[in-house]
Formats: sequence, C-alpha cells, structure tokens
Amino acid sequence: VFSRIDHIGVAVAEIEPALELYRDGFELTVAHREVVEEQGVEAVLLDVGENHVELLAPLSPDTPVGKFLARQGPGLHHVAYQVDDIDATLQALRQAGMRMIDEQPRTGIRGSRVAFMHPRATAGVLTEIVQPAAGAGAH
Ligand code: CO
Repeated sequence: VFSRIDHIGVAVAEIEPALELYRDGFELTVAHREVVEEQGVEAVLLDVGENHVELLAPLSPDTPVGKFLARQGPGLHHVAYQVDDIDATLQALRQAGMRMIDEQPRTGIRGSRVAFMHPRATAGVLTEIVQPAAGAGAH
C-alpha cells in the first residue's frame, strides 16, 4: 500500500548549482546529503513539508542517472511512494504482474530500502517505492 509520496527525484548534472536554486532560491532545508555508490549518485534530500525533493547528480556518465542526463537532459527523474513493508509490496506487485527493475530491495538514501518499477509498466513515469529506515519514517 502506498501511504504517501515520499519524494520526487530530480536529475541534475551537478549538485551545487541545483542547491543554489532549491536551498537558497526556494529556501528549502537540506535534510540529508549522501553519496550512494550502489546507485552511482550523489543525492541531496530537501524537506518540503512532510515530503522531499531528491536531487541526483551522477558519479560518472555510465551510471543510470548519467545516461538519463545524456538522453534527455536535467529534469524530473522519478516519483517515490512510501510503503511500510517493501517486501510485502514487492511480492504483491510481482503477483499483479508488474514489471520491475529491482526484484529485490536495494539500499537507498538514509539507509532506506528501495526498489524501482519499470517505466514501461507505469505509464512512462519511473516509479520508486521506498521503505524508510526505522526512525527515519516520521520525517
Ligand atoms: Co528516489
């Protein structure tokens, strides 16, 4: 069950110019910043009320976000829905025949567990499900 939108992901070439817009221009608070080697990105989470914007800059051109930028330039990258139990959600999605990029959860930002659905199965929107780490759920 999707309980709410956790964040929207925005692909950028470099973090610092994007922070000038989102942190300084929009006056959003930086909640977290992390290099996620497993996903090949540097990520920054900014608070927007109970939700977040996630800025994603690729660590190299041959990463998924690097390829996205080469293909279509910076912009909206994905929408992430929060769930309480990602294992149960993945099982239900598989049983529903949903095409997944990740059959098993992998490590996301702030120790969360995440999985991506295939955009061809989700009307062209790259869709992430995220189970926050214990203690990070009430942000
Ligand atoms: Co995300």
